[in-house]
Amino acid sequence: MDYRKRTGCGKLRPADIGREVCLAGWVDARRDHGDLLFIHLRDISGIVQVVFNVQAGSLYEAAGRLKEEYCVLITGQVVRRLEGTENPALETGDIEIKAAGLEIISASKTPPFPISEKAMTAGASVKGTEGVEEDLRLQYRYLDLRRPSLQKHLVNRYRIIKAARDFLDSRGFIEVETPTLTRSTPEGARDYLVPSRLHPGNFYALPQSPQLFKQLLMVGGLERYFQVVRCYRDEDLRPNRQPEFTQLDLEASFIDEEFIYELMEEALVRMFAVAGISLPRPFPRISYREAMETTGTDRPDLRFDLRLVEATDLFRNTGYAIFRKIIGQGGRIKGLIVRGKSEILSKNVLQNEYAREIVPGFGAKGMTWMRVAGGKLESNIVQFFNPGEQQAILERFQAEDGSVIMMIADTSSETVLSALGQLRLHLARRLELIPGNKYHPVWVTGFPLFEATEAGLTSKHHPFTAPDRTDFDPADRPGLLSLNSRAYDLVVNGEELGGGSIRINDARVQRRIFQALDLSEAEVEEKFGFFVRALDYGTPPHGGLALGLDRVASMILGTASIRDVIAFPKNRSAVCPLTQAPAPVTPEQLAELHLAGEGELKISGRREEDPVKRLAWVSRLGYEESERNELKKAVEAAADLAGRIEKLPADAEPVYSPSRPGNRMRPGRTASKYPGVEKKDLFRNAPAVKNGHFKVANILE
Ligand code: AMO
Repeated sequence: MDYRKRTGCGKLRPADIGREVCLAGWVDARRDHGDLLFIHLRDISGIVQVVFNVQAGSLYEAAGRLKEEYCVLITGQVVRRLEGTENPALETGDIEIKAAGLEIISASKTPPFPISEKAMTAGASVKGTEGVEEDLRLQYRYLDLRRPSLQKHLVNRYRIIKAARDFLDSRGFIEVETPTLTRSTPEGARDYLVPSRLHPGNFYALPQSPQLFKQLLMVGGLERYFQVVRCYRDEDLRPNRQPEFTQLDLEASFIDEEFIYELMEEALVRMFAVAGISLPRPFPRISYREAMETTGTDRPDLRFDLRLVEATDLFRNTGYAIFRKIIGQGGRIKGLIVRGKSEILSKNVLQNEYAREIVPGFGAKGMTWMRVAGGKLESNIVQFFNPGEQQAILERFQAEDGSVIMMIADTSSETVLSALGQLRLHLARRLELIPGNKYHPVWVTGFPLFEATEAGLTSKHHPFTAPDRTDFDPADRPGLLSLNSRAYDLVVNGEELGGGSIRINDARVQRRIFQALDLSEAEVEEKFGFFVRALDYGTPPHGGLALGLDRVASMILGTASIRDVIAFPKNRSAVCPLTQAPAPVTPEQLAELHLAGEGELKISGRREEDPVKRLAWVSRLGYEESERNELKKAVEAAADLAGRIEKLPADAEPVYSPSRPGNRMRPGRTASKYPGVEKKDLFRNAPAVKNGHFKVANILE
């Protein structure tokens, strides 16, 4: 076949009726009607139905051999479907192809999961991949990628990125590539390291972001840079994180915050428009402090109200001992009010679910609740508050009948905010307060420059972020903690899509920031000497931002996970089920990289492991000290056998063990249940037990 004559399956319409066409693609589904055989032929452009008639003889017989996912060439004529047999689920549903020729290019094994997403007859259901383990889909990602919905996500991801590229191009930005074999960049995660063969004991780091290079591009006078760039971070996994992910990274010189806001708002508007979503401009702005105080998080979801309300001052002289004690210890009390949902939030739900289980799960010790009825407060503790306090509560929360007030008190302000923030989201989801198809972007600004840790101070963003004042003393801890940064985060619907800042362009300020972070001159020289030196050569004022493109695409396309907009993502354990990366390497490779010699690991800090202990731990088996020697011998014998097996010739016959399974380590003893293994004993230390089960931490997703 001359491939140039090929037409896309999904492009055919009634206007093409009568045309002879050449099609190529995969068999999506087949249906045998005895004298008629139908297939759905699929390519990237869509699906079209092809009909083989029994009267076509050998052609019909050949079609009978077709199975799902065979790759085929088909020629035929576009004809109108018989009235009543149209398939409105297909864009080509009014027509079909009367087959005249068929060539099987490549047969397919039966796929491990269904790929077809379109029923062959109107209204019929399709199995789809629902219920298929994601790891299986990732293992056979090349088949998963044949699913039209996944293809559509990748095509749209491309369009979204293209919209951003075109826009930045129109604003005078150029795309510049920066190195991926580089030195560590401090973005707060661990680095992925690449050992150097040529420089024993030395490592490259894969970039956590191109931060330093893009700033150097500004020193280099490029003025407007962007890059669609892969970043690598070895950090704790969350549903919206991948070990490698893509940023739309940009930086510009002679600009201020307003330039970035305007630029990014327009970029985002255009990117969301790819999926027909219109974002309202300008994006509102909220200070870090206001976000924390009203939503309990610096990633506020503003699609719904449910703002947090301060209540500490109402209880300064209260008779309610718990509140008085917490306030006495410097703690605070805040709450939120849910209006018109007191039917769902019954006393039972509030006390037994929220106060006892849900809120403690958010890290608070407990929760106080009050329902409002007949203009009065009702609760299990309301009698501890005098009438003045009760009235003040009603007024502060602007409570009306049918409302429920929930308050959290704690000696730690962070605990109060974090627990209330989680409660706010929990209630919004449970009470369905979040409007669908609504997008609420917001700039979060005015972050503190530093965060206090036990060891000292760390940068809230990264150490190149400009402070709002430069007259600080690097030794004055309270003064440093009162500094704000010129950083901004872009949050949409409670998800951080991007972040950036105006940078420090004065080498002296940069050095004082390093001092504040307690980095010695030697450490600075060692880590960032190359960078700080550059600042001494006429650095322009500059700033920028990076968008997490996987998150942006996932939000625009409404996918459940960022993995659905990445062609070959890692799974939730940072493993690629397709390639099985990360994978062991041979001792020879390690030796070549100077990481090991003669089978023994040289990386410092790695201890020789006790093989018995390790085996017991891995298999969760207990052993008695008297059994140790026996076990050691058995492990050694197994290791010895394994060692010898490696040396067996490749064509050796397999051997089968003739022994019956049994308790080989403890002959004569049959399995018995340890008397202490009763559920109630096992659950003794569990944080919460319900109906014979104990609660474990929330598994996200
Ligand atoms: P930041 O660390 O905030 O800033 O990263 C920018 C954006 O990248 C996305 N992101 C991730 N997406 C998926 N998986 C991950 N593991 C992951 N980590 C981050 C987020 C985030 O908002 N150099 C600075 C930018 C700057 O200052 O210009 C930086 O990297 O959406």
